[in-house]
Order: sequence, then structure tokens, then C-alpha cells
Amino acid sequence: MTSIGIHDLELATAHHVVDLTRLAEAGGTDPAKYHLGLGQDQMSFPAPDEDIITMGASAALPLLERNGIEGLRTILFATESGVDQSKAAGVSVHHLLGLPRQVRVTEFKQACYGGTAALQAAIGIVSRFPHERVLVIASDVARYELDSPGEPTQGAGAVAMLVSADPALVEIEPATGLFTDDVDDFWRPNDSSTAVVDGALSVSAYLDALTGSWDDLQARGGPGIDDVDRILYHQPFTKMAKKGQQRLVEHTGASLSTALTAAEQAAAGAARDTGLVTGSIYNRRLGNSYTASLYAALAALIDHDADLAGRRIGMFSYGSGSVSEFITGIVQPGYASRRGAERVAAALEARVPLEVAEYRELHARAYPSAADVETPRITRAPFRFAGLQGRARRYERTAG
Ligand code: CAA
Repeated sequence: MTSIGIHDLELATAHHVVDLTRLAEAGGTDPAKYHLGLGQDQMSFPAPDEDIITMGASAALPLLERNGIEGLRTILFATESGVDQSKAAGVSVHHLLGLPRQVRVTEFKQACYGGTAALQAAIGIVSRFPHERVLVIASDVARYELDSPGEPTQGAGAVAMLVSADPALVEIEPATGLFTDDVDDFWRPNDSSTAVVDGALSVSAYLDALTGSWDDLQARGGPGIDDVDRILYHQPFTKMAKKGQQRLVEHTGASLSTALTAAEQAAAGAARDTGLVTGSIYNRRLGNSYTASLYAALAALIDHDADLAGRRIGMFSYGSGSVSEFITGIVQPGYASRRGAERVAAALEARVPLEVAEYRELHARAYPSAADVETPRITRAPFRFAGLQGRARRYERTAG
């Protein structure tokens, strides 16, 4: 059977960054709560002329420049911060990228799980049409109410992935573990720009979904814990990955490191390092990017782990509400040529810091569709949200 999986991937983020030490100090909170308690250092924050579409197109552009568009007939855009109830965000991306009309485009939604749903659908399409390639984009802006417990876990980011037969990066294996449970742990009503969350319930629902999907993976003949070399988790905040690893250790009895920092890792003794520290390098600085978060962890691992060729990666995808899936993949021999550590580091460093007052003002800013508006030119990304005209969103290419 032909191998199918991720041929290449690229990460993009927003123009601004909020430093969590500053946010903590402004709110009278001990910064250690954010850095150690949540495992977060910064959060990306979009400029007024950025959104999920500009980030998604910015992630996809270099991917298509590197790989061309031959065989590209499908774009699957996963998000839970969609900008329209009807039109798929990927249609605007299709236009911005100047793609031919012979492309199907649609949007996937199931909280943070949507990216994995899109990846699996892409694999299904390629298994039917092995000469086609599918562009999967996971893009989100995570936003909670100001001064709420979720506020320091906000963030923004997009990951674009090209899915094909004989992938150069990661072959996704067929066995997969699933778990769905109707639970009100986190959601965003249509009339709210911020998420509603029961924090404690969301953490326990995530952990139950992890063991549930792991057990299903085992029942479906997937690899045992000793045959999984690295494990990546959806990271609403990186400490959640540590909690997941702790739960998997209890559940399987395996001796896996639960260290989340290099210092903790040095003291971890004989417990096996499955990449918890490496997989959290980008998410610590992006904040939550919902559908993109697990794939930002994959990007971090690929970019920073020099011993991945032939290794099996386990990936736990969780979407509140809830749907989750534990998938596995084998890293391909030539993966090192696809590494993008310098590009991502440059993008993270280039973000423009916001003072807390500026961030709070931007957080409150909204562009209701009823009034035509031109957004200020802020972003240096290749694409921008230009504003609203006749209630429709307008996007354009920048000089960036
Ligand atoms: N120094 C070091 N650590 C400190 C500290 C200090 N001074 N003060 C507190 N801490 C630690 C706490 O001990 C705690 O650690 P443990 O979890 O290991 O016990 C941690 O900091 C968090 O503190 P609290 O328990 O007081 O929790 P909180 O009220 O600040 O809220 C939260 C935490 C519920 C996760 C909140 O950030 C939240 O609601 N986040 C959004 C929801 C979320 O991300 N849920 C995760 C699962 S759902 C999901 O995965 C989908 C998704 O993307 C949203």
C-alpha cells in the first residue's frame, strides 16, 4: 500500500507578541504562575489587519513556493475562530494564493481537533487519487475574556501542511484511536467573540479523552507504548502536555520523562525522553493556536530533534466538546532537509511587542460587518485583511 502523510509543513504567526511576565505583573499575578504553572512565556496577538485567513495564507505561500502546485485540487481549512458562518476561509486563501479554479475548498470545525480531521480527510482523498496533493491549513486566534483564567493561554498561529503519497516528512499510519464525548468544557456561542470555558472540566475531559483514544488505538492494533519514540500533545498551554504525559505514564505503566523544561529533563534520570521539552518550544511562545497547536508541536520537534529519521511519533489531538484522536506517524529519512528552525525563530523574533494597555485596547477592538471600514496597515506578513466593504471581507497581498 502507498504510504501517505505530511510531505512538508510551514508555520506562521501574528504580528504582535504579549510578554506574559508583563501581563502577570499588570494583573498582580506572580509571573511564575504563567511560566511554570502554565508553561507559557508569550502569546502571539494579531494586528487589526490580520486574522485566520492572512495567517493561513502566509503559512501556505512558502509551502507552495517550495513544492509547486501540481496535483493540488483540494484545500481543507480547519479553524474554530472562523470569520464567516457560510463562506469557507480557504476560499479567500485560494484567491490570495492565485490558485487555479479547479480546486475544491472547504472548512472543518470541531474545536482544536479540526486540523486532525482535515488531515485524515486529506489522507482519504490522496488514497483515492494518489497523484493529487491536498493543502491542509490549521489556523486560529485563541481569545478569552480579559482578566479570566484563560487569558494567559491566548495565542495565534497557523500551520500549513501538504499531504501527499510518498511524503518526505511523516508517513501517517493507518491505525488510529478515537474518542468522542458530549461535554460542555469549552465552546464559543455564535454571539460571542471569546470562548466560554469550564477550566477544571476541560482539563479532566482532555485527560479522559487521552486515555480513551489511547485504549482505542490499542484495540485497533496500533503500536504499544514501547514502540512510540516521541509523543506530541495538543497544547492549549504547554503544562497540559505534561499533564497528559503524566496520565499516560499512570495508564500504561511506562517510564516516560514528564520534564517540561531542560533543567527538569537533566534531572529526569532513566525515564525515557519522548520529546516533551522539544515539542513545546514553539507553543511556549505562540500561546494556544487551537487547531494548529499540535502541528506547531510537530514543527518544533522536526526543527529541533536531530535523531528523528525512522522514529515513530504519537500525536494526541483534542478538541473540546469533545472529539479526540491518537494518531501515529513515521518520520521519513530525508526529513532534515525540511527543517525550518531558523525561519520560525526569525518570525517569532520579528513580532512587535505590545504593552499591556495596547493589548487590552486591541483585544476589545471589533469590526462589525454593518459598516464599511479600512483597517490600518500594520502587518508585515505577505497578506492582509484590508477591511469590510458591503459587509464582505476584503483581503490583499502586501509588499511583505
Ligand atoms: N508559581 C508556580 N505555579 C503556580 C503559581 C506560582 N506562583 N500559582 C499557581 N501555579 C500553578 C498551579 O499550581 C497550577 O498548576 P497545576 O495545574 O499543576 O496544579 C497552575 O499554576 C494553574 O493554576 P490554577 O490551578 O490556579 O488554574 P487557573 O485558575 O489559573 O486556570 C486553566 C488554569 C483552567 C487551565 C485556565 O488557564 C483556563 O481556563 N484555560 C483555558 C482552557 C484550557 O486550556 N483547558 C485545557 C484543556 S481544553 C483544550 O485543550 C482545548 C483548548 O485548546 C482550549
